[in-house]
Amino acid sequence: MPAEADWPGRPGAFITVEGGDGAGKSTLARSLGACLSESGHTVRLTFEPGGTELGRRLRSLVLDPELAMGDWDETWLFLAARASHVQDVLKPALAAGELVLSDRYSDSTLAYQGYGRGLDIERLRRLNSEATQGLTPDLTLLLDAPAEIGLERTRARSAQADRIGDADLAFHQRVNAGFQKLATDSSDRIVVIDASRDASHVLMDALQIVNDWLDARVSAS
Ligand code: TYD
Repeated sequence: MPAEADWPGRPGAFITVEGGDGAGKSTLARSLGACLSESGHTVRLTFEPGGTELGRRLRSLVLDPELAMGDWDETWLFLAARASHVQDVLKPALAAGELVLSDRYSDSTLAYQGYGRGLDIERLRRLNSEATQGLTPDLTLLLDAPAEIGLERTRARSAQADRIGDADLAFHQRVNAGFQKLATDSSDRIVVIDASRDASHVLMDALQIVNDWLDARVSAS
């Protein structure tokens, strides 16, 4: 369902940052948010799973390496976190005209639970649509780096075990290939950025893409 169906004339802009573990999304979202704020935008920086108190609690459950759960259990937890994020954070921020920048959103469920775990993609699309009330990002920056590089980065930065991050290399490779497939299928919305380079180059590309998109939006209105 296109965003416009449920969100007629919403004034804000909704941009998501996606990618595999260790692709550098959180670093990019923070620096991009700061640059856009400096140039006068009212930026709302948020993330999934999290972004609300319920989301934060669900996040600690879903990532807990001590907690065994099935692939669908995992999916429902991400969807519940997303539903509260949409209702309590995204919807009010967009209605207020803010530029919302979310570190992960519904493409992560398609890539991790769909392509990574092997769950049915069309069913996941329908469930995403329910959980998000049809809210689709206007623009998605997909940070692409080989899974080996991503995992090296996450292991160097944290020794903390994580039920999904600690899955084997083949899982993370399927996730990355899944993201690529999503980018090909939604090339009007998803822009791929080479994230194997250092953070300053990734930020420069991202800023250019977002500014071009914002300019095009103004010219079209
Ligand atoms: P996080 O520590 O936020 O990792 P990252 O910094 O890479 O985003 O943990 C979130 C993990 O949850 C990450 O491995 C991706 C995974 N995830 C899913 O599997 N499905 C989802 O729908 C979302 C939002 C995240």
